[in-house]
Amino acid sequence: MFDRIAPVYDVMNRVMTMGLDRRWRRLAVREAVWPGDRVLDACCGTGDLAVEAERRGGRVVGLDFSERMLERARRKSGAIEWVQGDALALPFADAEFDAVTVGFGVRNLDDLEAGLRELERVLRPGGRLAVLEITRPRGLLRPFFRVWLDVLVPIAGKILPGGKAYTYLPASIRRFPGPEDLSRLLEAAGFGDVRFRLLGGGSVALHTGVRGQ
Ligand SMILES: C[S@@+](CC[C@H](N)C(=O)[O-])C[C@H]1O[C@@H](n2cnc3c(N)ncnc32)[C@H](O)[C@@H]1O
Repeated sequence: MFDRIAPVYDVMNRVMTMGLDRRWRRLAVREAVWPGDRVLDACCGTGDLAVEAERRGGRVVGLDFSERMLERARRKSGAIEWVQGDALALPFADAEFDAVTVGFGVRNLDDLEAGLRELERVLRPGGRLAVLEITRPRGLLRPFFRVWLDVLVPIAGKILPGGKAYTYLPASIRRFPGPEDLSRLLEAAGFGDVRFRLLGGGSVALHTGVRGQ
């Protein structure tokens, strides 16, 4: 499915978020990455979050299991090490990274709890995690979000070549835990100082946490 989405992925991101995803990525990276850090961007897709971590001065590894996504990522940076692999069985040693980022990726993991434990395993004690994910807004924005999700995204998916695969999006967002529940899962996976802030009128959550000692 992600191989099929790859050709339209960046355009869809810009259209669906009205360009705001760039700002969210910068915020996520600022929370977790310090210059000189060894950084893993898991589920890196076409690489935008990994590139942002590189701009911040990180020595970055981007990992994804979709080869078509990685092809596009490779065109964006030759300095980042792009690795094809499974986020549920990361090909890295324990405590290898100072920071781990995931942008719009954890929602897609077959086993969320196992995925979070795996992210924790490769972080050094005291290392920082930042997770960006779509979430269902409450309050005023809720009806607009439903129109966006149930009407506008499927229309964009029909217009753009390969966009049909976007029909997966509404269902995956509905079954994903809300921000408080995701915080609890992060704590259960071994992260401390877990916090989240809502962005995009409450439609995106940025969770941060620190691996315990
Ligand atoms: C919605 S895209 C997000 C891409 C990118 N992180 C971003 O911020 O735009 C989700 C990505 O997660 C990848 N993915 C999903 N499950 C994965 C897994 N188990 N291991 C590695 N990559 C995975 C997909 O191939 C896809 O590229």
